[in-house]
Amino acid sequence: MTPDAGHSAAVLFDTHAHLAHADFAADREEVLKRARAAGVRYILNAGWDLASSAEAAAMADPGQGLYAAVGIHPHDAARAPADYLERLRDLARRPGVVALGEIGLDYHYDFSPRDTQRRLFAEQLALAGELGLPVLVHDREAHADTLAALRQEAERRGTGTVQGVMHCYSGSREMAADFLGLGLLLGVGGPLTFANARRVVEVAEAVPLSALVIETDCPYLAPAPYRGKRNEPAYVVRVAEALAGVRGLALAEVAEATTANARRMLGLDR
Ligand code: NI
Repeated sequence: MTPDAGHSAAVLFDTHAHLAHADFAADREEVLKRARAAGVRYILNAGWDLASSAEAAAMADPGQGLYAAVGIHPHDAARAPADYLERLRDLARRPGVVALGEIGLDYHYDFSPRDTQRRLFAEQLALAGELGLPVLVHDREAHADTLAALRQEAERRGTGTVQGVMHCYSGSREMAADFLGLGLLLGVGGPLTFANARRVVEVAEAVPLSALVIETDCPYLAPAPYRGKRNEPAYVVRVAEALAGVRGLALAEVAEATTANARRMLGLDR
């Protein structure tokens, strides 16, 4: 800690929360108050299906630092209606909607057939390109196909890039370089605080600080010492502290850098 770190007001950005989740139905306002009190000035609230995306869009309040992402999670891909893309396009135009997500591939649970997951991921990546929005990418045990889909989209756009975040990044250092090469950032969350976090720590140590954002993925993945409990945006402070420890930086430095990275990626400084 540098001498003044304790006095600097750390401004944090939780880049991945699911506030439309039923776990927050009873006390969402209290949760938001606690986040603010903890220095979490910005939250990106992501949907996972059409209903939660509509809720996230309705909840968005840019003046209060509350933004929304809309998208169909791979778990929900098989249940998406035929007109889901048009409905997402409409939601994405609402005020405070700044990204498409949570989208991606999940070969761990395989709740939706893989070809359906891949089709919806590709279609939503293309929609993000059309709308000029970044993406929040879920990749669980599907690194190769996730990278292939992103590369294909980068090529389709002709820019060679796709803006967004590899949410709760769990891949190798080598693959991290591939995602960073496409212009994506890496999201670091609760797992960084877990005792068995060796690979996540290695990546968080090795990549440039300009490539990292922090997140909770609440209500899931609560950081230590809340592991196993309901997670909430206020706990992103624990992630920032863990990242500061890994990088040998003050909390204020990590807060400033990750918040600036998130704002830049989401185009909030324009
Ligand atoms: Ni999530």
